[in-house]
Amino acid sequence: MIIARTKAELNETLKILSNKPGKLALIPTMGNLHDGHLSLIKLAKLKSSKTITTIFINPLQFGNNEDFDKYPKTHELDIEKLEKEQCDVLFMPVNKDEVFPPPGEIKNIDSGMLGKDLCGKIRPGHFDGVLTVVNRIFELINPDIAVFGAKDYQQQILIKKMTKSFYPNLELITAPIIRSQSGLALSSRNNYLSEQELKLASNLYKSLQQSVISYNNKISIDKIINDAQNFLKSQKLFPDYFELRDTQLKKVKDNNFIGKKVLLASVTINKTRLIDNIEF
Ligand code: PAJ
Repeated sequence: MIIARTKAELNETLKILSNKPGKLALIPTMGNLHDGHLSLIKLAKLKSSKTITTIFINPLQFGNNEDFDKYPKTHELDIEKLEKEQCDVLFMPVNKDEVFPPPGEIKNIDSGMLGKDLCGKIRPGHFDGVLTVVNRIFELINPDIAVFGAKDYQQQILIKKMTKSFYPNLELITAPIIRSQSGLALSSRNNYLSEQELKLASNLYKSLQQSVISYNNKISIDKIINDAQNFLKSQKLFPDYFELRDTQLKKVKDNNFIGKKVLLASVTINKTRLIDNIEF
């Protein structure tokens, strides 16, 4: 695997890659790679002949009171895992100047109304920061394919919208959520939890599963949400939101909705925020 640490090294590497035929697939990450991230790389390899992973903890998507400084960094282990997956290139910039131009010249992307809903309501500016960095990574790498996880459902929808406007030829692939045996969606932030908290956290997925059953049994949406929130609180998982939406994230108000829907939830356990969802 070629590891590029600067913009210049990245450009050199991309030149080498361009001599190899076939499509280039990009997998953007913030590192601390787990099986969820690795599933994206596996999927990318099925759809392309060249893969590039990025590891960059993007300061623009963290609020002042968030975990930017303590976000887990496991570079050596990450490199080992990527080598094992036979990823072709890793772009792991040494600092933010190897990603962004000087502050006045950054192309800031506005995530609009949807970026202020759900997770965006709790994390003001978060999705503007995500879209700004993803746009920049697309500019730097110019991939044919990019892979994102369904775990970050709202993120993936916003990136799709941006891509449709700015990169109509770029193919986006959404990869399914990878979970631990307990049902807990894998996340770098699970590292912040104790054994006991991890056990409690697995109830987030259980509450989503139970809600799908209730929906199919025609229980009213208000009751489903109320019951889920009470259950979560009883498990020390404090809900930030628990909502039923359509796959474009418009509100679903009754049980007669035709088409695919998604239940999305965010909970806080001892200062750590966890998100999960089920599409059904
Ligand atoms: P990060 O949290 O590192 O996630 C990188 C990618 O892995 C995202 O597309 C995310 O949805 C996917 N992912 C994480 N956990 C997953 C799981 N359990 N199953 C399947 N996919 C999973 O998301 C980000 O980084 C950043 O916001 C980024 C897009 C890199 C921009 O900075």
